Amino acid sequence: MSHADLRLPQVQKLGQTSRTDVWWLQPLVVLLGLSAFGVYATWAAFQARDYFYHTGGAHYLSPFYSPLLYGAPHEPRWIDATLPSWWPSWMPFSAAFLILAGPGAMRFTCYYYRGAYYKAFWADPISCSVGEPKFRGEKYRGEYRLPLILQNIHRYVFYPAAAFVIVLFYDAFRAMWFTRPDGNGTEFGVGVGTLVLLLNATLLGGYTFGCHCARHQIGGYLDRMAGRPIRTACYTCVSWLNKRHMGWAWVSLVWVGWSDAYVRLLCKGVFTDFRIF
Ligand code: FES
Repeated sequence: MSHADLRLPQVQKLGQTSRTDVWWLQPLVVLLGLSAFGVYATWAAFQARDYFYHTGGAHYLSPFYSPLLYGAPHEPRWIDATLPSWWPSWMPFSAAFLILAGPGAMRFTCYYYRGAYYKAFWADPISCSVGEPKFRGEKYRGEYRLPLILQNIHRYVFYPAAAFVIVLFYDAFRAMWFTRPDGNGTEFGVGVGTLVLLLNATLLGGYTFGCHCARHQIGGYLDRMAGRPIRTACYTCVSWLNKRHMGWAWVSLVWVGWSDAYVRLLCKGVFTDFRIF
């Protein structure tokens, strides 16, 4: 058998490779998908209106504005004020500004997304055995120094993200209660919007509780799970979600954007909600 000495790292120009598959397709899809979501979410956050639909007895709150800390008196606000007293008068206010950093930090520091957007947005690494930008290749610092060492906050942002999921389930539960036609009290019902919000909370739950940190919190530091049937069941469940983490990440991202758009379009009167029963 013949041998050849290859010096590592092999010098390649950016994008140079002997691969013949469409290796560039996945980073391109990630680039377009995350960019589109980022633009839409930013636009929706700046709107500061059309986030709560309450026509026909429904109570649908956009997930981009939940929990609604400040809002109008008829909205499900948590604090009895329209906006914080400390908010600068010259700055436009949106209740979404106060909360989007929580789920945003969860996604930004997520182990899956890091691998995906490092490839898609700054090509480092761009893909296996494909040439990288030279200015980074010679001084690889990984995530051990600023600014990327800050990605380690992921294990802490998991907790507020989990709380957000609980709040979104509560919103879906509230969407099951419609104001009676005579205005006296509420009655149980299900509209299409109820299902949209319920599926949104479920998908975000699947993404959040399949997090690598959740897996570690539930059982990762135990040598043996024997004798702990409840924790074993939870660990198995989280591990099942974790294996499909990329799928949950994308489906939940698309659906949370659609949930906001659904409520927004209802508020604008583009279409009406269908009450199933
Ligand atoms: S690893 Fe993706 S949310 Fe934690």
